[in-house]
Amino acid sequence: MLKKIAIIGLMMMNSALLYANHHRIAVVGTGYVGLVLGAGLADFGHYVTCVDIDERKVAMLNRGELPIYEPGLEDVVRRNTQSAVRYGPRLRFTSDIANAIREASVVFIAVGTPTGDDGHADLRAVKAVAQACARNLNGYKVIVTKSTVPIGTGKLIRSILAESQSDDFSIVSNPEFLREGSAVKDFFEPDRVVIGVDSERAASIMREIYRPLHQAGVPFLVTDVVTAETIKYAANAFLAVKVTYINELANLCDVTGANIKDVAAGMALDSRISPKFLNPGPGFGGSCFPKDSLELALFARDNGVHLDVVDASLTANNRQAVVMVDKLQRLLNESVQGKTVAILGLAFKANTDDVRESPALRIIGELKRRGATIKAYDPIATKTMAVLEPTLEYCSDVYEAVAGADAAIVVTEWHEFVQMNLEEVKNRMRVPVILDTRNILDRKALCVLGFSADNVGNA
Ligand code: UGA
Repeated sequence: MLKKIAIIGLMMMNSALLYANHHRIAVVGTGYVGLVLGAGLADFGHYVTCVDIDERKVAMLNRGELPIYEPGLEDVVRRNTQSAVRYGPRLRFTSDIANAIREASVVFIAVGTPTGDDGHADLRAVKAVAQACARNLNGYKVIVTKSTVPIGTGKLIRSILAESQSDDFSIVSNPEFLREGSAVKDFFEPDRVVIGVDSERAASIMREIYRPLHQAGVPFLVTDVVTAETIKYAANAFLAVKVTYINELANLCDVTGANIKDVAAGMALDSRISPKFLNPGPGFGGSCFPKDSLELALFARDNGVHLDVVDASLTANNRQAVVMVDKLQRLLNESVQGKTVAILGLAFKANTDDVRESPALRIIGELKRRGATIKAYDPIATKTMAVLEPTLEYCSDVYEAVAGADAAIVVTEWHEFVQMNLEEVKNRMRVPVILDTRNILDRKALCVLGFSADNVGNA
């Protein structure tokens, strides 16, 4: 709380000091990372131009509409696009990358790095931005990678920039640690800021950019570029391993009768372990853990090093969806073939509309493979899921989804599912069978109501 007040205070103070400390910044890519970063940096008093190749997206943003759902982001975007200070609004959107780069002293690369056909991160968009920087290098610029880029990308960008025949630039790796769903809060209250630099000049500019956080006491770790790149992968893969570990223990508890919630609580009392990321579930998803774990494992292998723990975490995570569907069949006492299953929750976690690598996708795939019919509902993510799974029956609320179903599976921990009227759910289902893969419902209460219910790890 204190930290938050300090940051807000500094933000207000910052607007007074605007002209002494502001930077002109280009943020290329307006996805979850770029948009939160751009809006947040504008809130710190900098002049930020967010660039996207997708003109439709830019037009939307210029109309004040957000292309993604992220709690709290709309307010930060609005107050900075409408801020009428000396040089116009602090936050602008454009497709004109050349001009945005020429105007900026700092360029953040926040474009997508999806997994390519060979399993490695696809760096085409990053390279294109680096080439645009090379073409528009009209004075000293700091080029910062913000999206998660494979270890060694800083070196690659340097080689592309070198083609400009100028060495008037610095390369920085400044990995982001935002979580979707709480990205705005994470931006203003980070655990740390990691800055990998190749020069003291760049380090000092980066400190200026994040001045409000620096002054609020947020730890800054300044390293070389390759170390910062490695920190990002090391952190994500470690958290993914932690989630996998608790998932596998939950599967064990299902067999032994031990309660995973108590097991996790007992582990978490050891301060070396910490209670965070010990919630078992249907497997980790999203645009980061699966992709980053895979990239790290492949990168290590290419370099003659085995990261067996990371490999195993990926294998176990893929299996978790199958474990969930097996569990459902045990609850039903028969195969799901010919059954109608209601999927409650499609987003890879609550408070986001992102379905990339969502466990719901894997569970739906497995159910379809076994011959089930699917009805699906999510408070926010039906639209994004419909792009990937256009043939599912999408429902407009929980009660429509469970109507006539032989079973329901809670896949995302939306608050709405904690609060659903279970009597009503039971009355609408053909057979009252429910599998809670997020341990958000009271299993005993469900059984009292007449459900055949299970969760993960006998919680
Ligand atoms: C993750 C990291 O937490 C961020 O620090 C990082 O910046 C981000 O990736 C990124 O690299 O961009 P995110 O993917 O938004 O953030 O989501 P998390 O909250 O970390 O959850 C990842 C997955 O693990 C979700 O599927 C979630 O449901 C699952 N999870 C998480 C569990 O199953 N149990 C837990 O206890 C925690």
